[in-house]
Amino acid sequence: MRPSVFVSRVIPEAGLSLVRAHCEADIWPEVMPPPYQVLQERLRGKDGLLCTLNDRIDAALIDSAGPQLKVISQMAVGYDNIDVRAAHARGIPIGNTPGVLTDATADLAFALLLCAARRLVEGIEYIRAGRWITWEPMALLGGDLSGATLGILGLGRIGQAVARRARGFDLRLIACSPDASPEDALKLGVELVSFDELLRQSDYLTIHVPLNPQTRHLIDAAALKQMKPSAILVNTSRGGVVDQPALIEALRNGVIAGAALDVTDPEPLPADHPLLSLPNAVVVPHIGSASRRTRDHMARMAAENLIAGVSGQPLPHAVPPPG
Ligand code: GLV
Repeated sequence: MRPSVFVSRVIPEAGLSLVRAHCEADIWPEVMPPPYQVLQERLRGKDGLLCTLNDRIDAALIDSAGPQLKVISQMAVGYDNIDVRAAHARGIPIGNTPGVLTDATADLAFALLLCAARRLVEGIEYIRAGRWITWEPMALLGGDLSGATLGILGLGRIGQAVARRARGFDLRLIACSPDASPEDALKLGVELVSFDELLRQSDYLTIHVPLNPQTRHLIDAAALKQMKPSAILVNTSRGGVVDQPALIEALRNGVIAGAALDVTDPEPLPADHPLLSLPNAVVVPHIGSASRRTRDHMARMAAENLIAGVSGQPLPHAVPPPG
């Protein structure tokens, strides 16, 4: 009998066709993700789950699926929505999709950095409001990149890819990343500094750490206060790394100059959220990996993890057990 799986969203055909070729696939067809209880019902009795970062995968969900559940395959690199400890305690491996979205996410971090530094959204709004009546010597002045200091919080795959891009813009590079190897940093031209130094020295600060209990609200009111009043914060990791009410206060009161965010807390943000009315905040809807090629790769990788898991094989890309 072919293994049965639940796929919690319609994902690119590059992955879906693989899943269909190997499994009896129950695919959630709607734009909105399945509500928790529906996910619970649809997963009951299935051998595998292919999920996204929208799905909350906790111990209760895993238990209610039944003892035949063999794998949880997430189509994302981050997995803070999954209770990894609970899954591992029950012998269920978790797959994710590292590597293939590194460049797309680094590209977006850089796009956001340039967008905020050079006030692109304000410029677009200025034209749409009919205010472009002449070339103005003093209008819409932004920050320079060349010669400025880019701080990278987390020098993993994506942080390193951002560093490589930044070199082309003549930025000075510093990073805070307790696990980074000094050799890698040296090769990238990045100086490793403490968290406090990162906050103090950065003209632009870009976040590339996963969300976990150690990083939740790492950028809080106290951290923001240490930053330069001219600094711009860029976040393409997870919204929860930043204390968002503290960020809103900091943006309102000039504690920092601007923020450019691909991720927020919660997601999605309601259209009337205060963050969205701030002129010095640029917000896009969690599109770090949203390029056609990247999403195809992610879908294929998630399908390969799923198929390996339901066949009792080691996953090609497994999340390590919690330490
Ligand atoms: C996207 O945010 C991912 O973790 O892949």
